Amino acid sequence: MKAVNRMLVVAAAASLALAGAAQAVDPGAPLQIAQANNPRAAKNPCAAKNPCAAKNPCAAKNPCAAGAKVDPKLVTRPKGTKLANAPRAELLKEGERLWKDTKLSTNGLACQTCHINNLAFNPTFGKPYPHPVAMAKDRAGLKQINTDEMVQFCLIVPMLAKTLPWDSRELAALTAYTSEVQKTFKPGSAATANPCAAKNPCAAKNPCAAKNPCAPKK
Ligand code: HEC
Repeated sequence: MKAVNRMLVVAAAASLALAGAAQAVDPGAPLQIAQANNPRAAKNPCAAKNPCAAKNPCAAKNPCAAGAKVDPKLVTRPKGTKLANAPRAELLKEGERLWKDTKLSTNGLACQTCHINNLAFNPTFGKPYPHPVAMAKDRAGLKQINTDEMVQFCLIVPMLAKTLPWDSRELAALTAYTSEVQKTFKPGSAATANPCAAKNPCAAKNPCAAKNPCAPKK
């Protein structure tokens, strides 16, 4: 019996070690550690000073991490262009579909992945546009940004995709839908206060997991 017991202890220890190893490569784990160390983390895990960037083993491929500068021209509406015109109801319907469409990105993300239940937004989202947005200032040096420009920004930065044509129906639709989402946004609500909760883009559904060299092999 003694030997069996010892076997069980060894097996338990081994599975604990395995669990530990799994945690070490879980992109969510470093975030939690970083969060504990850094109270700012709770506010916005994806801001430029992203605490999960520094400690996150997949930081290099993490679209939320501080990274290369973005050419402000890419996310600034060119003079003389305007949003495509269509009945608002149609734009909203199409916008809602696009909001959930992972095909808009190159990394498997949809707007919804990060922004479900108004997650990942800073209190600035509660203000009328144009207004300053931390990520746009840090990455593109923009003092303020508009709704459509913010859509473009999230397309090229966290979603690693291309911007949409400025007069495209898709951009008009996403912009319309974003304004609708904005109406439901209350700065300081539970969801916004903690974007590190379950749906945190840097946690379990880490956008860099797919390309993450340290992700558990399937
Ligand atoms: C990987 C996560 C991620 C994805 C995917 C993503 N975003 Fe964002 N988005 C963020 C983060 C982080 C912020 C907060 C930036 C800040 O406040 O500095 C943000 C901010 C915004 C803002 C608000 C800025 C403000 O305060 O006014 C809008 C609007 C927005 N995103 C729209 C979109 C749209 C539309 C899509 C899809 C095309 C999208 N986002 C996809 C992470 C993401």
